Amino acid sequence: MCGIVGYIGEQEPTKILLDGLKELEYRGYDSAGIAIFQNRKFANFKAIGKIVNLEEKIKKSNFSTDANKPSVGIGHTRWATHGKPTELNAHPHLGQYSYVVHNGIIENYKELKEDLIKKGHKFVSQTDTEVIVHLFEYFFNKDKNATKAFKDTIEKLKGAYSILLITQSEPNTIFFIKHGSPLAVAKGLNSEEILFASSDAPLIGIAKDVAYLEDGVYGVAKPDGVVFNTDVNWTTLPSSKQSAQKDGFRYFMEKEIYEQKDVVTDTMIGRMDDEHIIFDELDDKILDGINEIKICACGTSYHAALSASYLFERVAKIRCNVEIASEFRYKQPLLTKDILFVVISQSGETADTLEALKMAKKASLKTLTVCNVDNSSMTRTADFTILTRAGIEKGVASTKAFSTQTVVLWMLSLYFAQLKKNIPQKEIAKNIDILRTIPNSLKVEDSLHEKCRRLSKRYLHGHGFFFIGRDIFFPLALEGALKLKEISYLHAEGYPAGEMKHGPIALADPELFTIALMPEHLYYDKIKSNVEELSARDSTICAISPLDFELADDFIKVEKTKHYMNEFFEMLVVLQLFSMEVSIRLGNDVDMPRNLAKSVTVE
Ligand code: G6P
Repeated sequence: MCGIVGYIGEQEPTKILLDGLKELEYRGYDSAGIAIFQNRKFANFKAIGKIVNLEEKIKKSNFSTDANKPSVGIGHTRWATHGKPTELNAHPHLGQYSYVVHNGIIENYKELKEDLIKKGHKFVSQTDTEVIVHLFEYFFNKDKNATKAFKDTIEKLKGAYSILLITQSEPNTIFFIKHGSPLAVAKGLNSEEILFASSDAPLIGIAKDVAYLEDGVYGVAKPDGVVFNTDVNWTTLPSSKQSAQKDGFRYFMEKEIYEQKDVVTDTMIGRMDDEHIIFDELDDKILDGINEIKICACGTSYHAALSASYLFERVAKIRCNVEIASEFRYKQPLLTKDILFVVISQSGETADTLEALKMAKKASLKTLTVCNVDNSSMTRTADFTILTRAGIEKGVASTKAFSTQTVVLWMLSLYFAQLKKNIPQKEIAKNIDILRTIPNSLKVEDSLHEKCRRLSKRYLHGHGFFFIGRDIFFPLALEGALKLKEISYLHAEGYPAGEMKHGPIALADPELFTIALMPEHLYYDKIKSNVEELSARDSTICAISPLDFELADDFIKVEKTKHYMNEFFEMLVVLQLFSMEVSIRLGNDVDMPRNLAKSVTVE
């Protein structure tokens, strides 16, 4: 996702901004840019692709600033959401005398843009961001008060936004707000120096104190200090960059588990109002002539696909088949034109999934990719792309990719239901209300993490794990088992709970660990009977449920909620934390487990 940096001070700003942007590369981006203001003059550079391209461009221009004179600068790495990754769409965006950088999405940008165009403002990009700078100048032109104009501007914005804005009308000043997307402000090592960044990493080594802004905090920064709309807490910056990238977490996987509540918010932003699901990236004729959805994927993405198959059939009433991409490729599949072919992939580069997509293209099927990486091979190949917006995932064991994929696919099932008009509008609105509570279900409570940590010590041996669930909790069980296998190297299987008695129950004894997913709102009595059968045969049971269950040897209680999808995401977090804690106790490399690769680009 996008990254932001800002600088006020007397050092050479170009290097500080570029170095800062490089530290944010891990967030993923497709273009970058900076704007610097010194001696009442602006300089602005933008480039597509890597930051080195931007660096080259600046070098070639022979641009330099006067040493030891105050300057102000802002920089941005853009991960395209509205509009393609082009130079015009790259930030900073210029009005007539101000530049802005923005991370997030302005949901009401279309209305604002139309209104501003009527008032004579000229837009050059396809982005939502450009409205911010025009809105600011519109208000400034009215009463020539930049602070008030900034306040009036942010009051008009809906959505998620962290913003830095600089303007000729107020030199050596950065106006800022944090609302939804991350933003930190720091005091530089030299006096009269203020810095901004989307995370710690760009600030380490060049700043001493930092304030991680809460949502709704905005203000005005000048060389001699920062004025906020409210009190903020200043803390000392960590000293190691590696730990900064992990935001204080022990592992990237841990950070990514904790991040899920935020990234799924990004996934949903701009894609729904109170009653409708909106996918601007799709065509509302996408289902014309379609009778079946076929999904291909590998690994964790395959589990997201299986979860989706329940929702496509139940919610959208469309036949849905899911296949492991490596199997699909060689089975000489029947590909008829009434199939919408969907691939799911975090990286967009997995060789088997990509080949499956190419086969579908060759057979002239309509194709859609659900992917986390824009401009990847799959997004370039498919007819339609929905980006999951999880941000870069570093832990080899996938976590936030799965939660964002599942949210997108759930939304897609609702979108299809909406297109086919086969569920009442109020049912869609009800689902949207539930979707809005999912970030909360993904929130990691300290007590829950501690419970998983303590329990993990009892599950370091045994002759195997069975993760069991029914319905959509079966693919979740598969995902739980995969997580444990990947990072603990213990044998684990995911199984449909009702199928245990047809074979695996023969393995039951105290050394067989059953992790039972027991949601209240989806066939609780059925799964309860299945777990009782295993308990009667002495399997050790670890139950995960919002409802107490006496037969469990160990019990992890999740919040009581109103819908099974809340329970799905709550249990997902438990499974991820549990695997990670087992892996840590076994002394394994959590982020880089043996024999595995993050992106498997070979067959
Ligand atoms: C590898 C990774 C898995 C991932 C799978 C599919 O095996 O280790 O975590 O789920 O590839 O990757 P994709 O990028 O296509 O989702």
